[in-house]
Amino acid sequence: MAGIKRVGVLTGGGDCPGLNAVLRGLVKASSFDHDIHVVGFEDGFAGLIKDRTIRLDADAVSGILPRGGTILGSSNKDNPFRVPAMINGELTFEDRSDEAMRTFDRYGLELLVVIGGDGSLAIGNQLAEKGMPVIGIPKTIDNDLGATDVTFGFDTALSTACGALDKLHTTAESHHRIMVLEVMGRYAGWIALEAGLAGGGDIILVPEIPFKVESVVSAVKDRKFLGRNYTLIVIAEGAKAEGGEVHVAKVVEESTDAIRLGGVGDWLAAELEKRLETEVRVTVLGHLQRGGSPTAFDRILGTRYGVHAAECAAKGMKNVMVSLKGIDITEVPLSDAVKELRRLDPQSELVHVARSVGTRFGDE
Ligand code: F6P
Repeated sequence: MAGIKRVGVLTGGGDCPGLNAVLRGLVKASSFDHDIHVVGFEDGFAGLIKDRTIRLDADAVSGILPRGGTILGSSNKDNPFRVPAMINGELTFEDRSDEAMRTFDRYGLELLVVIGGDGSLAIGNQLAEKGMPVIGIPKTIDNDLGATDVTFGFDTALSTACGALDKLHTTAESHHRIMVLEVMGRYAGWIALEAGLAGGGDIILVPEIPFKVESVVSAVKDRKFLGRNYTLIVIAEGAKAEGGEVHVAKVVEESTDAIRLGGVGDWLAAELEKRLETEVRVTVLGHLQRGGSPTAFDRILGTRYGVHAAECAAKGMKNVMVSLKGIDITEVPLSDAVKELRRLDPQSELVHVARSVGTRFGDE
């Protein structure tokens, strides 16, 4: 594989800020340092199945560094191993991975770079098992991939959530209200915990620490007793009450991961209003966390990932995922990359620090 000349790239799953920085890093380093030609596939794996490509050279990626989203388009529904099809009015799924393999060959590609979260990287791994050489790049605002210390996109989502908390703080204080901010993160509480820490959340509720409504009520009352007539609660969309279930907003059958979480913030607000006299308002931050210009951190991390992927390609490496370990960019086997989700450790230093400054987690 050493000396490869043609590489394909796609951005799969939910988008996040920094995708364009990765594409720019990959394309520029491929072209300037390694004389590798890059072909972009549109809308994630859909482009590979349906043969839809985009010219990707240094000119095409010029000026995209600060842009949110992805110039390639993305999709979290198009899995070549499970393509939705309506047959006799019924939703069925077809394996069209052979078509994806054929598109790859048609362009004379020697490697596919998959920029994605656990779902897209798992598909990349399946394609690798079928014989397509793949390099993964870890993307998601959720920061929940076990094989890297940090995914790009997380820092931007975090700063959006922290900014929202700062704004809620002032209005909560004026109106003596309880403000609930529901943030994304799926089954991991990274955005909630770190935004809560950075934005001074009084109560942080995360999936890894099931909460009791009564404990949340006590935390609000304790604050009142100290003269604090308002409370900021940050709740992760995947948080659940002890003995309860996660709140599902939607089931998207065609998607590899069909469950869309959401609604726990409204549920908690209703429970609190039954037990307290204070008014409760809910803000669901939603896709604002995925949009907009990436932070400097995400631009740099994204660029490093893209450049490193080009270097791996030039060295003939395959079936690895680029990864941040400490301060270094390295690689891990692609099969390891999709093994486990990275979730919060309730005993971790970050949780300890939050508790030390008086933050409550609803588990006391
Ligand atoms: O994985 C990223 C993420 O933004 C999650 O935090 C969230 O649960 C999900 O994607 C939302 O997906 P969709 O864009 O399909 O609503």
